[in-house]
Amino acid sequence: MHQKTIEEAKKRLFNGQLVIFPTETVYGIGANANNHQSVRSIYQIKQRPVSNPLICHFANIKEIEKNVILNYKDYELANTFWPGPLTLILEKKKNSKISPLVSNNLNLIGCRIPSNKISLNLLSLLDFPIAAPSANIATRTSVTSISDLDKNLNKVYKIDGGNSVLGLESTVIKTTKDGCKILRLGSLTIEEIKNKFSNYDIEIESSKVSPGNQLKHYSPIKPIRINVSYVNENEALLNYGKNQLISNIKNINLSFNSDLFEASHNFYNYLNILDKTKCTGIAVAPIPEYGLGKTINDRLKRASYKDK
Ligand code: TXA
Ligand code: MG
Repeated sequence: MHQKTIEEAKKRLFNGQLVIFPTETVYGIGANANNHQSVRSIYQIKQRPVSNPLICHFANIKEIEKNVILNYKDYELANTFWPGPLTLILEKKKNSKISPLVSNNLNLIGCRIPSNKISLNLLSLLDFPIAAPSANIATRTSVTSISDLDKNLNKVYKIDGGNSVLGLESTVIKTTKDGCKILRLGSLTIEEIKNKFSNYDIEIESSKVSPGNQLKHYSPIKPIRINVSYVNENEALLNYGKNQLISNIKNINLSFNSDLFEASHNFYNYLNILDKTKCTGIAVAPIPEYGLGKTINDRLKRASYKDK
C-alpha cells in the first residue's frame, strides 16, 4: 500500500471529507468523529437513520481512554481481543469531543481498534477517532471488496486493501455485572469469548428494535430463501459443503470443505455475485448454527426478512 494514498486519506479526513478504508471485518466509510458536519454526511450518503449509532475506530487504548470509561470487564475483553473484531459499548466522558451525532445523543459509544494494518496506519496519523459504519447503503449487504461498492459510494475517496480477511462485521458487546451482552453477533464468536472467559454469563440481545439489529438488513436486492432443501427454477444457489443441491442459473459454494472461516470470508462477495445474475431469487443451503455459522445465519435471517 502506498503511503501517499494513506496520506491523502488523512488530509481528506482533516478537511472534513469522507474516506472508504479497509478493516479486517468489512470496509468502513469514515469521517472525523469530532466533526459534526462530517458525521452528518455519513448518515446522508448511506441513507441511514440517525437513530442507528456509529462505531468509533481508534489507534490504541490510550486514545479510547481519552473519550470513554472502561470497567474491569471492559479491560479484560479489550486486552484479549483488541486489535480485532470486537466493538465495546462504553460510557462517554464529559470532556470527549466526539460528536453527539455519532451515538444519537446517547452517552454510550461503540469503540473498536481494528487489526488491519492500513486502518491502524491511517488512525495513527490522526488526532481524532474515525466514526465509520460499514461502507454500504443502509439495509444492504456490507462490502468486503472495493469492486462491490454501491455506485453512490464509489465516488468517495477510497483505499483499496484487497478482500477483507474476516468478511463479517465486528461483534458488538456491552459488559454486564456477570459477563456480557451481545448486541450484534459478528466475527468474534461466542465460543472464542467462552474459551477465554468461561466464568462469563453471555446473553444475546434479542430485542428487534435494538439499533442496527433491524429485521431487514444485510440484504441483497433479489429475494433470498434460506435453509433450502431444493432449488427453484431460475433461483441462483449459494451453497455450503458437499450436497446434491443444484441451480440452473448459477452455483457458487461458500466453502466446499465446510470451513466456516472460509464461508465468512466469501459471504458478502458471493451474495453480490449471485445478486447480479439473471436469477429471480437466491436460495441458500443450510449453514451450521455454531461459531461463525451463527453470525452467517443471523445475517441470512435479516437478509431474507419480508415485510408482512
Ligand atoms: O466490523 C464492523 O463493525 C464495521 C467496520 C467498518 O468496523 N462497522 C460496522 O458498522 O459494521 P455499522 O455501523 O454497520 O454497524 C454498527 C453496529 C450497529 O448494529 C449499531 O447499532 C451498533 O453497532 N452500535 C454502534 N454504536 C452503538 C451504541 N452506542 N449503542 C448500541 N449499539 C451501537
Ligand atoms: Mg452496517
